[in-house]
Amino acid sequence: MTRRARWKVFYACLLSVTVALFLFITNHVGGDCSNKCGSLPYRIAAGDDIIQGHGRNITVVTLYFNIGNFRKGNGDVRGTHDKYKNWMKSWASLTNDVIGFFDDDEILEYFRSIRSSQPADRSLLIKLNRTDLDSFKYLRNVRDIYSSPVYPRHSPNTVSADYSCTMDAKYDVIQIALDLGLVRTKYIAWLDIGYFRDMVDRPPQDRRFRLEVPEDFNASRVAFSEVTPRSDLVNATPWHYIKFNHVWVAGGLFLGTAKVIEKFLKSYKSTRRALLARGLSSTDQQVIGAMYSPEFLPHQQVDIMAYTCRTGQYGLYGSQRKYFCLGYTCVRANVDRQVADALYEKLRYITRFI
Ligand SMILES: *[C@@H]1O[C@H](CO)[C@@H](O)[C@H](O)[C@H]1NC(C)=O
Ligand SMILES: *[C@@H]1O[C@H](CO)[C@@H](O)[C@H](O)[C@H]1NC(C)=O
Ligand SMILES: *[C@@H]1O[C@H](CO)[C@@H](O)[C@H](O)[C@H]1NC(C)=O
Repeated sequence: MTRRARWKVFYACLLSVTVALFLFITNHVGGDCSNKCGSLPYRIAAGDDIIQGHGRNITVVTLYFNIGNFRKGNGDVRGTHDKYKNWMKSWASLTNDVIGFFDDDEILEYFRSIRSSQPADRSLLIKLNRTDLDSFKYLRNVRDIYSSPVYPRHSPNTVSADYSCTMDAKYDVIQIALDLGLVRTKYIAWLDIGYFRDMVDRPPQDRRFRLEVPEDFNASRVAFSEVTPRSDLVNATPWHYIKFNHVWVAGGLFLGTAKVIEKFLKSYKSTRRALLARGLSSTDQQVIGAMYSPEFLPHQQVDIMAYTCRTGQYGLYGSQRKYFCLGYTCVRANVDRQVADALYEKLRYITRFI
């Protein structure tokens, strides 16, 4: 072999070792690979925009209405204004674009000061009057339903009409954000204002986070966290969901392309209205259950992609593992990609010389 050919063989060997190492690391970094072990990392197969993560940006929509104190579950844990104000601090370290809706100047300014730790163009805060939203047009109707002594009582879902209407309002404000053309990214997510409450108590260096579309996400669906396995609920009717307070998927966070989310919203709203017409109301979680119950299922155009986490995955246990699975999956998707991007850059640097 000539000297030049020997160098070529040497570089070819070096390259294959590096590629093998890269594949190994991107598939094993972080230890969690529940959804993607064995598959090729998308960065190798995809175009440059995906390598930079731009195509996977998410606009996050949220809302806060002060509805006073309410009892959550059967214990005496109370949802209070002060507790939510503390939880809101987690938004200081969220680096996504955020659109927030409020009906109170003081809380809007409070949220603005929290978001001031991010570049100004990452937050758009909108004031509205809740009585202008479709969801609150049904407030009296919902109150009447809950005032019946024989109606199931699950606090706050079927007790506080304000709570039910506030949960319902998330679908109105997403529609407003889309109608006003405020969403500049392909993906949009709803995020409850208290969802990442655990971030508040973390040391500052561990707080920064960003939601990114998980690698295995099917963009023709809407992603949710699964609370109860579908197989346990296949025969549940809308009434069962309300009477027994069943939850298939959690309403705290969902994610999809703007196009698919809009389809999902339409269907959600028509189901909510159909249930109200029958004297049935609870929160959005029961409405979604009803949408995918045998009676309403044939009308659904959008499938749900339900995410589940193992016990202890992302440090989640108990009910947190069920309700917060998707959120931490999206946070990890961003961390994984950053690690992979850094390795990819190194690999590109090395292979430039071949
Ligand atoms: C996605 O987010 C990154 C980082 O904030 C930004 O540089 C990029 O312009 C965004 N891309 C789109 C399409 O919004
Ligand atoms: C919201 O609208 C209702 C009905 O139009 C009105 O009575 C109320 O004063 C408004 N609230 C605020 C804060 O503007
Ligand atoms: C994505 O979801 C759609 C709608 O549920 C389904 O038809 C399609 O087969 C899925 N694609 C993949 C790759 O799983």
